Amino acid sequence: MQRKIEHIDLALKQCLTLSNGLNDIQLIPNSLPKIANADHINIETKIGELCLSSPIIINAITGGVKEAYQINKDLSLIARKHNLAIAVGSQKAAIKDPVMQYTYSIVRENNPDGIVIANIGMDSTFDMAMQAVEMLRANAIQYHFNLPQELLMNEGDRTFQHMKEELSKILIHSPVPVILKEVGSGMSREFMKEMISMGAAIFDLGGKGGTNFAWIELQRQGIQDDTFVDWGLTLAESLIEYQRIRALHTDVHVIASGGIENGLEIVKCLALGASAVGIAGHFLRTYYLKSIEHLDQEVSKLHREFKIGMALIGANKVDEIKNIPFVLKHSLYTYAYQRKLF
Ligand code: FNR
Repeated sequence: MQRKIEHIDLALKQCLTLSNGLNDIQLIPNSLPKIANADHINIETKIGELCLSSPIIINAITGGVKEAYQINKDLSLIARKHNLAIAVGSQKAAIKDPVMQYTYSIVRENNPDGIVIANIGMDSTFDMAMQAVEMLRANAIQYHFNLPQELLMNEGDRTFQHMKEELSKILIHSPVPVILKEVGSGMSREFMKEMISMGAAIFDLGGKGGTNFAWIELQRQGIQDDTFVDWGLTLAESLIEYQRIRALHTDVHVIASGGIENGLEIVKCLALGASAVGIAGHFLRTYYLKSIEHLDQEVSKLHREFKIGMALIGANKVDEIKNIPFVLKHSLYTYAYQRKLF
């Protein structure tokens, strides 16, 4: 499981300049204050039946190696302090070796009443998914898609013939909401449609522009080659893809993720219909390269920026962000036009 340590190490070193595209979304301002009181802005949100105190989710990072225990312990203390939902990293390691469960279950111990999200990958069966949920008494489960990473890893999965069948069972029979999650390649509307037809109702878009697993895997193998590093859709393009789905399926919800680092980006994602956002790399870097105190301050800063952004567009509560007018700039407009998404 040295791989998990190397992933963290390389995520900390990643210095790619790929953008998540959110700069090309321009919200339209209105100078007349429409909020009742800037100090009483309500940031509660809902993802289907999941009620969250904040739209910020600490996204899946780690578990399954002894070093992960301290990280999950500290991240989950931050989640408790700021009432954030928190996801753990892939639980496969603890399903294979129950001795490792403590590296994940600390998240639930620190958040007995909080929203804790389990995590499994594309090689998981329905039984594995249920073990992952039980391990944490999880409120929801993320099923992550990471095809570029698996194919670029020497030790990655190469066979997927039972995947769809097991995923279908998970989607239909899971006792908790299932979040279908990308980890950096984004999502097309065709993919979302296919998954909705199988029973999916929540997507974490995981767009390009943040943590980049193609880069991480190539670096890990010492390969100086950028092929596939630019693969996939940015977070902004994925949000554009979601607009068609949003118009047709009011019961389908998305979490926006991929390189989110400030509160205005969160407002933009919610204006394009997301119910919440996931942040992994930015939180990991703040915690690891600085300190847990810095992470604590960073979450406060994100909440402050988010509320300022809401005030600037006249939103008293999260639902009111969703109908804010916006304009797409530069290549994002061309993208939307070519994909006939507006
Ligand atoms: C991740 N991510 C991740 N996702 C997942 O579903 N299961 C996992 O085990 C992991 N492991 C993991 C390790 C490390 C070191 C990082 C940085 C990230 C992916 C993560 O949850 C998120 O989807 C992507 O990182 C994109 O978001 P950011 O990092 O750009 O905010």
